[in-house]
Amino acid sequence: MAQLPGQIDPTVPSVARMYDYYLGGKDNFPADREAAEQVIELGRQTGSDIREVALANRGFLIRSVRHLAESGIRQFLDIGTGLPTQDNVHQVAQRVARDSRIVYVDNDPIVLAHARALLAENQETIIIQGDLAEPDAILTAAADHLDFSQPVAVVVAAVFHFFHDDAQVAEIVKTLRRPLVPGSHLVISHAYIEPGEGEEKKADQVRGVYQRSTSGGIAWRGREELLSLFDGLDILPPGVVPAQKWRNDDDTYHWPGLAKGGVLGAVGRVP
Ligand SMILES: C[S@@+](CC[C@H](N)C(=O)[O-])C[C@H]1O[C@@H](n2cnc3c(N)ncnc32)[C@H](O)[C@@H]1O
Repeated sequence: MAQLPGQIDPTVPSVARMYDYYLGGKDNFPADREAAEQVIELGRQTGSDIREVALANRGFLIRSVRHLAESGIRQFLDIGTGLPTQDNVHQVAQRVARDSRIVYVDNDPIVLAHARALLAENQETIIIQGDLAEPDAILTAAADHLDFSQPVAVVVAAVFHFFHDDAQVAEIVKTLRRPLVPGSHLVISHAYIEPGEGEEKKADQVRGVYQRSTSGGIAWRGREELLSLFDGLDILPPGVVPAQKWRNDDDTYHWPGLAKGGVLGAVGRVP
């Protein structure tokens, strides 16, 4: 990576850059790769493939955004955007409708720097620095670019597992849902593990790696916990499912590395 924004400490693994490494990207430093390799190895010891986890999550994100764009949604608020990769939210949505408006939000300055470069010529898409822990501030900033009197899809993919406090997650979702008019949608994906022998110990070790990263930790949540975040919304079929199974027509690949867990995904519609 060439230039670093001032507030970056490249010796602290960043969850954005670790995820970039899982996806095969090049926007990462030795500390990110080392931490990511530790997680990959811990996963391997339990039969899980972390790269498959990342790819399955990304596939869910792309299919859900495409589905919503094809259903007529023209505004997306994507919180915890991640480093640019193939098929980012604005590209998927604007391929369906060129005038789709997107607000990206991330708290990692490197994500901001890369996204700004990518988006320099895209008038419909902006990126703002913001923290999911402060959803009111995000909504206020997003309202300069999005019209909340019309449906908006709020996307929070692979971010809530960096919050260990269930009550805080519920409160953030409640705040994000408040301005959404009928026809709006909420898209969430979240890390989970199937309960099983030995999983807890490995999970503790993975948590240890993330505790040294920019997120300060990781927490897994199950189907019921995810479902509760959609309370009062109409959940689109097939419901809360492993990300790779959400409206995926490709049955040629069987995801052997996801038998012990991965990411759950779901999409809810404001009635
Ligand atoms: C695992 S990546 C997911 C990227 C993308 N959403 C996806 O699913 O492919 C998590 C992203 O969330 C960002 N992030 C983590 N905690 C955050 C927070 N509290 N507020 C905003 N962004 C956050 C990270 O910087 C990173 O870019």
